[in-house]
Amino acid sequence: MKTRTFTIIKPNAVAKGATGRILDMLAEAGFTLRALRMVCFSRNDAYRFYGEHIGKPFFDELVDFMTSGPSVVAIVEREDAVCTLRKLVGATNPANAEEGTIRKLFADSLTRNAIHASDSDESARREWSIWFSPDQVMEAEYTFPEI
Ligand code: CMP
Repeated sequence: MKTRTFTIIKPNAVAKGATGRILDMLAEAGFTLRALRMVCFSRNDAYRFYGEHIGKPFFDELVDFMTSGPSVVAIVEREDAVCTLRKLVGATNPANAEEGTIRKLFADSLTRNAIHASDSDESARREWSIWFSPDQVMEAEYTFPEI
């Protein structure tokens, strides 16, 4: 059964012009886009999105980074979406990321790690609802050419 997950192409990846290449990697891995937008996190957005990390030693640096420039947020769909996307994204710390993963290719550090992928179906729903209202999510089936 197809499921959905949420991803953020983070400010360092957007700034280095990697948005298109990352979206290509998602498409090649069989993900279909259900919603997509470019956003600028405010400090309030970062506190809301990363609420579970408030008070951790890396939190202030994380907020500064996430508010430093535009991000691209998306809802993507395929079978086993949460696990498949987390494998493609790679380890949180790019020093541990496997060859071929998005973080191995585009991360600059543990904080500037290029991309976010939700860790569960529940997190995905909470996270995408911060950025997308139901009418912004494409529900009709559509097809696109093989790539
Ligand atoms: P992500 O898993 O997308 O969301 C939390 C982010 O906090 C994580 O990516 C990293 O960018 C950042 N971060 C910085 N330092 C740490 C750390 N020590 N442990 C976990 N996450 C960290």
